[in-house]
Amino acid sequence: MSSRNIWTHKGTFLLAAVGSAVGLGNLWRFPYLTGENGGGAFILVYAMTIAIVGIPILIAETLIGRASRRSPIMGMKHLTESQGLNNAWRSIGWMGAAAAFIILSFYSVIAGWAVHYTGLMFSGSLAGADAEAIGASFDNLLASPVLLLIYHTLFIVGSGLIVGMGIHKGIEGSLRFLMPSLFLILLIVLVYSLMVGDAAAAFSFLFTFNLQDLSLEGWLEAMGQSFFTLSLGMGAIMAYGAYMSGEASLTRTAFAIALVDTVVALMAGVAIFALVFGSGLEAAQGPGLMFVTLPIAFAQLPGGSILGGVFFVLVIGAALTSAISLVEPVAAWLVERFGFSRPKAVALMVALCWLLGLVTVFSFNLWSEGTITHQLFDRSPFDVLEFITNILMPLGGLLIALFAGWALSRDAVIREMGTNTGWFSIWQFLVRFIAPTAVAFVFLRTIPQIEGNLRPAVLAVLMIVAFSVGRRLLARRRIG
Ligand code: PHE
Ligand code: NA
Repeated sequence: MSSRNIWTHKGTFLLAAVGSAVGLGNLWRFPYLTGENGGGAFILVYAMTIAIVGIPILIAETLIGRASRRSPIMGMKHLTESQGLNNAWRSIGWMGAAAAFIILSFYSVIAGWAVHYTGLMFSGSLAGADAEAIGASFDNLLASPVLLLIYHTLFIVGSGLIVGMGIHKGIEGSLRFLMPSLFLILLIVLVYSLMVGDAAAAFSFLFTFNLQDLSLEGWLEAMGQSFFTLSLGMGAIMAYGAYMSGEASLTRTAFAIALVDTVVALMAGVAIFALVFGSGLEAAQGPGLMFVTLPIAFAQLPGGSILGGVFFVLVIGAALTSAISLVEPVAAWLVERFGFSRPKAVALMVALCWLLGLVTVFSFNLWSEGTITHQLFDRSPFDVLEFITNILMPLGGLLIALFAGWALSRDAVIREMGTNTGWFSIWQFLVRFIAPTAVAFVFLRTIPQIEGNLRPAVLAVLMIVAFSVGRRLLARRRIG
């Protein structure tokens, strides 16, 4: 492995990982989930999960990436082989690639909406419009496969161009310009919304912690969101970690990523709810919070068209820096495995995700109110994203935690973590016990058909299965 495949500076991994983490998850998903789940209590559980599950898995993923210095698929192959471990661990790489495909295909369509709204805002065509007109314009967008396709194409081609230019010129170069700009835009939007909106209402909604307010569903959604927002469980961080300088500290970097990501989510939450409450609107709007409720607020405010336009530029930029981290793991694998040139590998990945995105593009149209599909399947296209965030990402994260916590040799771990044994033992305890338990809790919820009084039995069976499977997974072959 040549030094061409290491980030230019000790701190570049942090920049890249923050770019990956900060995205639609912070600006779009976090506020609407918080709005649906009643505010502060949701945020409390979300923040707790980030601290005790998210950060340890973030460290584990970076560690695996840096220890293998390969794409997630090849990296898992390399580590299992060199450590004489069960081949089943390689599923971590494959599942991650599958998740990257699905997330990017969906992500690109939603980011495409932001492209559309940037135009709507700057052109002033929503200025002064009433709630009904703005709601109708969103429905029209969803009902138009042509429009959705155009924006989806623009966005995904843009991400492909960046990654195609390589990790230095493309990824590092764009991040070095985009990340500070995005932060500045976010600050401007925040200050503006605090001035014109209802800051007090926003603060009391977001920071009144009443755990009784939170449904069981809300607890579990908070956990899923903590994986999504930190880009965990699917290899994006692993792929970036493969290029991380050997000198950078894993723990300090992970803390910084989680901190910045959380602060950005909170800043977005404060800005959005100040505007929403200031205009007398409701918090619980679901995925339409950013695309209907917020534009309604912008339409009523002085300078709202411009600030709205600036806000959606922020959304596009943040989504772009996340999308490139979804392209990288698979593209890097294509380069390593088949010797493709980088542009060719990226083109292939992007083309496939573009195609898969057609499913999302048409599903919004087919799913719209009153259609037969809507009546036949009581499912929304958002359920796909829920499945990924609440099942696939936590499952990936669980396996990653177990792999780093139990399977990897102590030597390999210490080599990456250093000898700062204080953090080391806390981290090891969290990835070995706490993170897996918390994720198991998420999974039991995805089986709502199980009657409450059957749950202990199901749990017992699962633990026995996990134990015997675990013994096999941890058995080491002799290497040689
Ligand atoms: N973390 C990103 C966000 O918050 C989403 C993402 C998930 C990006 C997985 C890359 C990998 O929007
Ligand atoms: Na995020």
